[in-house]
Amino acid sequence: MFLNSRKLPHLLGIDLSSSAIKVVEMSLSNQGYKIEHYGVEPLPSNALGDKLMLDVESTGEAIRRAVKKSGSRLKKAAVAVGGAQIITTTIVLPGELDEQEMNDQIALQLDQHIALPQEEVSYDFEVRGPNKSDPTQVDVLLVTTRREYVDKRQAALEIAGLTATIVDVEAHALDLASRLLERQMPNQGTQKLVAIADFGATLTTLCLRYDHQLAYYRDQAFGGKLLTEEIMRYYGLSFEEAGLSKRRGGLPSSYQKEVLEPFMDEMVKHIKNFYRQYQETNSNNQKLDQIQVCGGCGQIPGVAAYIERQIGIPTVTANPLLSLTLANQPKAMHIEQDTSTLMIAMGLAMRSFS
Ligand SMILES: Nc1ncnc2c1ncn2[C@@H]1O[C@H](COP(=O)(O)OP(=O)(O)OP(=O)(O)O)[C@@H](O)[C@H]1O
Ligand SMILES: [Mg+2]
Repeated sequence: MFLNSRKLPHLLGIDLSSSAIKVVEMSLSNQGYKIEHYGVEPLPSNALGDKLMLDVESTGEAIRRAVKKSGSRLKKAAVAVGGAQIITTTIVLPGELDEQEMNDQIALQLDQHIALPQEEVSYDFEVRGPNKSDPTQVDVLLVTTRREYVDKRQAALEIAGLTATIVDVEAHALDLASRLLERQMPNQGTQKLVAIADFGATLTTLCLRYDHQLAYYRDQAFGGKLLTEEIMRYYGLSFEEAGLSKRRGGLPSSYQKEVLEPFMDEMVKHIKNFYRQYQETNSNNQKLDQIQVCGGCGQIPGVAAYIERQIGIPTVTANPLLSLTLANQPKAMHIEQDTSTLMIAMGLAMRSFS
């Protein structure tokens, strides 16, 4: 997106998440996608500072450790920017303009879309197709962010001895990785509207795909850290104790009704709001055919069934392993428990092939 070399080398996908640095190397052959290497370097809470304005030094060192764990030798990488600081708008431009002319026009009107001086903005655009009401014009998707977020990611990678060849948007990476979920979709996703919700620790990334194409996306500041904090407060535990007990169990019987269900109700609300926003912006009454949940909170036992009951739409836990093979090396074989939290890293690694 913000940095995109046209001829793509083989890229290491690196997700700079709030709870861990996640790196994935993939390959693509006639047999499909394969995980060649992967490494996860868990991070203490807020180790990297704010997710957008990350601390370059400590992030760089954590990336270096994650890559070492993975065993990958790739030196070129794809990373992403996520969160509320990405502004996406659809603009309309004359259809006859070439890419350079579009770029020039957009540069002139950037200040209408983001309240920053032009030199502080990174942007990219993509022609989506002819405009419905005037076929001489085209709809162009414009994505803007603060240049500093892009620069910091590049600098952190440099410290780890890597080059950022692509700086993408997290939701786009999630969309790309969603190809691995098509086997679970009704009719394999063809002419179906499917929502993919990645519930992380601090950020929830949602994308809607219609007929294999990204139709809409949003990030929301919401995630499992809120559940951990509620467990701490409710049962007087430390952050680490609360985090462990939510994964391993052993909390009092009041946990399900009094702490977990209110949190899952929030997950439901985020999905519903997201779908409502999509309908409002697209004046579209297309019914949702399926919801797939992933990310750490997608692993809460029973969460898919709970969401399905509340929203009334078939819901499953995303399982990218159905469309992946694993390299015959011990680390890759331990990936099972992590795959659902690796969607963004996998989507970034898949930029090597698309
Ligand atoms: N089995 C589980 N049950 C409940 N919560 C879980 C489980 N496994 C992981 N989590 C929670 O999921 C969160 C981590 O998920 P994930 O790895 O997707 O986040 P992240 O990508 O690091 O964060 P973000 O995307 O917000 O930057 C943590 O809050 C963790 O406690
Ligand atoms: Mg995440």
